[in-house]
Amino acid sequence: MAGARYPQAPGSAGCAGPHILEAPLDASMRNVELKARDPDPARSLERALALGAEDRGEVRQRDTYFARARGRVKLREQETRGSPFRDELIEYSRGDSVDARTSTYQRVPVADAAPLREALEAAYGALVTVTKRRRLLLWEGVRIHLDEVDGLGSYLELEAVADPDSDLSGEREKVERLRAELGIEHANLVGASYSDLLLSASGEGERGSADGVRGPAEDMRTPAEGVPASDELMRAADEVMQSAYVPYSHFPVGAALRAPDGSIHVGSNVENASYPQGQCAETSAIGALIAAGHREIVEVAVTAGGMEICPPCGGCRQRLAEFASPDTPVHLGRPDGPRETTTVGELLPLAFELEPPA
Ligand code: THU
Repeated sequence: MAGARYPQAPGSAGCAGPHILEAPLDASMRNVELKARDPDPARSLERALALGAEDRGEVRQRDTYFARARGRVKLREQETRGSPFRDELIEYSRGDSVDARTSTYQRVPVADAAPLREALEAAYGALVTVTKRRRLLLWEGVRIHLDEVDGLGSYLELEAVADPDSDLSGEREKVERLRAELGIEHANLVGASYSDLLLSASGEGERGSADGVRGPAEDMRTPAEGVPASDELMRAADEVMQSAYVPYSHFPVGAALRAPDGSIHVGSNVENASYPQGQCAETSAIGALIAAGHREIVEVAVTAGGMEICPPCGGCRQRLAEFASPDTPVHLGRPDGPRETTTVGELLPLAFELEPPA
């Protein structure tokens, strides 16, 4: 567990009390979002206020992230200047791109957060706890978060909540305008969530390295600052998993392969009414890597929606072995969940090899 413990304020767990910071809860919502490191929070605050952003005050939040089947689930406990404040369970999913991205989420008010957190922790385990002080401002319907995140530092987030029937272009424009007005530099944009950043910083996301298995490609490409290369690969697998075509098994899988030049090639499983014609995610990703002109795989990541650790099937092991070496690392798991790192050789010790005829 990373992140500091959050002192429970007396009476802060209830859902009664003034809700000065938040809009009313809706069953299911969409946002356009942007996150960046904030080298000068005082200047950001000044600029936002100068633009006419409404200052909605400061709140102290603790988010506990739970292991999950798909998407992300966190319990948010919060207080503002000692006042009781609405706690909520938030389920959401979004991509990890640094550009303004859309997220979908559901927020459920929670009357008694502490016992719920204990029950969920007991049932699923807590992955990470993110605690932060958030100054919230509102500008033309866009939420501006000036966050001081324990263990990470100062960040700035923009969130434009979308109308249900919006095509999101208006929200994207507003986020882009605010980004320019606040002087957010491209180099400071961050794709990963606070939970991923804390997991990376604590080494939790790199369990495989503890076994001495290290990807030969880890130094070949510079991932976003603070994000290990294998996390980047796992996130690429997780993202492409969303595109899986799985009407028969309902078991989406995503695979990401790194080529020697550091480039990443992805694929998801594609099923067929004639079942044996279906194709695994690893096989789709191999097709993408070969189509891009590569002949070698230096690192593999596989993630699945319905299984914490999804080992490649036997056929895919042989296909991977065609382009990988026995010590090529294979990361199995989730971007912010359990992770195991093995190698192609461990997965398939006696790979079939055929000497091409002379
Ligand atoms: N699947 C993969 O994509 N990769 C594997 O290594 C194991 C299985 C897919 C195939 C099928 O679409 C679904 O998972 C259920 O077997």
